[in-house]
Amino acid sequence: MGDAGDSGTTGVAAWLRELGLERYAAAFAANDIDWETLPRLAARDLHDVGVESIGHRRILLDAIAELDRAPARPVASRAERRQLTVLFADLVGATQLSTELDPEDLRAVYRLYQDACAQSIERFGGHVAQLLGDGVVAYFGHPRAHEDDAERAARAGLELVRSVQAMHSPRGTPLLARVGIATGVVVVGDVIETRLGEERPVVGETPNLAARLQAIAPPGGVVLGARTRRLIRGRLELVELGAHEFKGFAQPIEVWQVAGERRGGGPGSQEPLVDRRRELATLRRRWHLATQGDAQGVMLEGPPGIGKSRLIRALVGEVGTGPSTVLRYFCSPYHTTNSLYPVAAQLEHAAGIERDEPAHVRRDKLEALLGPGSGAPGGRGDTLGPLIGLETSAAITPQLLKTRLFEALFATLGELCSSSPVLVVVEDVHWSDSTTAELLEGILGSFREQPLLLVATQRPEATLGLLGGEDVSRLALEPLDREDCAEIVEGLAGQPISAETLESILDNADGVPLFVEELAKNLLERSGESGSERVPATLEDALTERLDRLGDARWLAQVASVAGRQVTLGLLAAVARTDPGLFQEQVEQLVGAGLLLPREESGEATYRFKHALVQQAAYGMLLRDERADLHARVVEVLEQTDRAAVERTPELLARHCAAAGLTEKAVAYWRAAGDRAMRQSADAEAIASYREALGLLATLEPEDDTYRLEIDLLTALGVPLLAIHGVASPEPEAVYLRARQLATEIGAGRELFPVLWGLAVVSSGRGEMRRAAETADELLAIAASEGDRELELEAHHAAWVYDFFLGRLPEAADHVAAGQRAAQGVEVDEHALLYGGHDPRLCARNFEALLARLDGREAVAAELGDETFELALASRHLHTRAHCVAWGAIADQLGGRVDAVVRRIDVLKALADEHGFTEFSGEARVLGGWALAMRGDPVRALAEIGEGIALREAAGMQHLMPYLLGVSASVHILAGEPGAA
Ligand SMILES: Nc1ncnc2c1ncn2[C@@H]1O[C@H](COP(=O)(O)OP(=O)(O)OP(=O)(O)O)[C@@H](O)[C@H]1O
Ligand SMILES: [Mg+2]
Repeated sequence: MGDAGDSGTTGVAAWLRELGLERYAAAFAANDIDWETLPRLAARDLHDVGVESIGHRRILLDAIAELDRAPARPVASRAERRQLTVLFADLVGATQLSTELDPEDLRAVYRLYQDACAQSIERFGGHVAQLLGDGVVAYFGHPRAHEDDAERAARAGLELVRSVQAMHSPRGTPLLARVGIATGVVVVGDVIETRLGEERPVVGETPNLAARLQAIAPPGGVVLGARTRRLIRGRLELVELGAHEFKGFAQPIEVWQVAGERRGGGPGSQEPLVDRRRELATLRRRWHLATQGDAQGVMLEGPPGIGKSRLIRALVGEVGTGPSTVLRYFCSPYHTTNSLYPVAAQLEHAAGIERDEPAHVRRDKLEALLGPGSGAPGGRGDTLGPLIGLETSAAITPQLLKTRLFEALFATLGELCSSSPVLVVVEDVHWSDSTTAELLEGILGSFREQPLLLVATQRPEATLGLLGGEDVSRLALEPLDREDCAEIVEGLAGQPISAETLESILDNADGVPLFVEELAKNLLERSGESGSERVPATLEDALTERLDRLGDARWLAQVASVAGRQVTLGLLAAVARTDPGLFQEQVEQLVGAGLLLPREESGEATYRFKHALVQQAAYGMLLRDERADLHARVVEVLEQTDRAAVERTPELLARHCAAAGLTEKAVAYWRAAGDRAMRQSADAEAIASYREALGLLATLEPEDDTYRLEIDLLTALGVPLLAIHGVASPEPEAVYLRARQLATEIGAGRELFPVLWGLAVVSSGRGEMRRAAETADELLAIAASEGDRELELEAHHAAWVYDFFLGRLPEAADHVAAGQRAAQGVEVDEHALLYGGHDPRLCARNFEALLARLDGREAVAAELGDETFELALASRHLHTRAHCVAWGAIADQLGGRVDAVVRRIDVLKALADEHGFTEFSGEARVLGGWALAMRGDPVRALAEIGEGIALREAAGMQHLMPYLLGVSASVHILAGEPGAA
């Protein structure tokens, strides 16, 4: 390989020479391809440069991929979290060998053994981390991840033990290795690298587990743990070895031994095919044309997991119901340079040939497949033999061998076509070797008028420009819609699942069926476990591979992931703090890679992660401290540059603060979010925000200040709880009781005030008026000792209500008057939130009217009542409006003003029903019923009243009940049912 340090096009020319492709050197130079641009070339570029041969394009692309892996390209040396598969190999009986052999011979054995290990590991894309005598440690998933790292490790393990098995010590003793493999999340970092001056170390339990597994592996065996097995997803044959206890591991661990290959692309899910009707119809049409003797080619394209193979299975199923032959070929990522590998594998599979079978058995089986006599010199079996490792009878050049192979394969295919239509499926041609690619082009060229359909699948990112001819139609698979995805989830669950779980799966899957399945399995299998694993382990490697492909731009993707699914360009730039030129380049790279989708949102350039799972995977790789720092930076930038966002979405800031470990700040933002919701009369949202704040507060050191904050939050929380659950319910009471306990413990006076106020409301709600009135006395005492007019107003507020209910009317009137005096010059708006959730000044006027009525001063009462009604309607505060209208209605009912009551009840009912004010829904119905009765409709009246009473009873609301029951009784009497009254 060329010198990677050599920049400019001369290095590239040398590199081409090494590949035996120096004929393109001039074209590369003319197109300014240097070391910088070389790694970014795609198949189409090579085509444009003038590399017409598919075989040469394949060689070049492989070599370019190899460049990528070469250590010359630095990997960002930041510590990060990763899922890693660790392989441990060990030579069986090494100690004995060392006593038997001369050290120099031993060294030679080790050398051979290590070479064999390194070769197997590297062939499957693993990274040899340590070679210490007979101990070998390898990583799959670092420094570069592959979607199938677990499977790669298992395959490397198999090959490793097999190649060691073929070796002998100088004394003739056969050698054996054993291998242990484990997968888990680790931290890989550069921390200790400098000290040891060698490998970047891996921190986590996974290497330990791999070592322990290796120790229990049988000689010549490969053993792996549960997580690795889960990731292999049935693509290899595994044998269960049961649960084992390991030192240092609390739980027994399930262990499997790798038995070998599983042919035919692994097991497919048996779940029914969802949607894809249009695509299936297209394929059906093509098949129909093919059966008429008009050969067809279709290239099925789509990203990993979109459902290419699943669709093909459906087609094969349909085709198989009529006269047909189906030939299936699978290209493999482990054999991209193995000439005609898919053809050879298909042949072995069809002939029933097992691995390691001796040559004569293979020959017999091949002859049995191709017919008697085919194995004779020059026969078809003889020609195809080299594909499956058999020697031909005659010595021939590779070129001639290829020509003969092609002829034999074409002849076989031609015979099949003459007996019935043939469907040729070639899966994953992005991994095909160049000869297979050539063969496919050849088939399409030579079989134009034969009953043949060739369907190939391919991922879009790695197009070889294969099967690009006009006679091949392209079919791109798009993501499924939400309903179809929901069908897949329901099919897997086999039982109804919660709407919330379903939503979360669909939101994160973005229409990719594989993501849907893995997310669903993850949630279903781990329901009950703590949900720390947001990205399923089975998808993690594939997602990391996509991120690793970004090179240095990966860091920017991680920064963006901290902001959320979506980030504005301004925020991203400010948080990333990279050089502007580089920043722009990397943003474009992320967009170019299809990772981020650009969009415009209210005039601002914004980027959105195409896949939620990619965002989560990028986020998951950040170390906790790093994450916290980035969240803190997001907070800082938003606070400095986007006050509007801070005010509009305090909960967003709260979340970032919490993730940044800025707990106190997070509490304050949650509090602000709750207050904001209260101002918009959004009780449920307010409750949720206050509860978030309280939850975070509980993680802080208990100090007087935290207690004060907690009392404050509990008091704030009590108000919406009263509104939503009703004044008699246990929820607000529990909150107020906890606050009272805290206030008493720290000797707080002023803080106790709103708490006692809330408790008085709860007492009165339950009809415990004497208790409520006693609490009002406590309130008056606190107000007096604090010398505060606001508190005074609210203390009298409580007192006038409860004295009224106890029938102490003159005292109630005194408190109304005293309260109104205290209210002079007091700003009351915020009070509406804290005390009973309504404006005390309007409440005072209502009671003044009520007391006037009971006093017989009709005119005063009516005038005050009407005025207050108008004021209530003008209030922006919904709960104030409801409360005042309700009390006005009572005063008018007592005064027999039917029309006034009807007006007020219409308003009240609408308000109460719309906003869930339970307290008033019942009351409105009883008073509305009374009005109906007075207007001569006793039947409807009784129905209304019954409903109202039932509503209140269901909420346990005693408050006002005697009065309302009295109203009910009077209506029963009116209706001529004195018995029911
Ligand atoms: N239309 C569908 N209905 C139900 N399940 C589907 C559908 N499409 C795909 N699946 C399921 O989603 C998973 C991924 O699909 P599949 O293996 O066909 O993807 P692919 O496009 O071949 O991916 P790759 O590029 O990795 O080979 C499979 O388990 C498959 O059964
Ligand atoms: Mg597939």
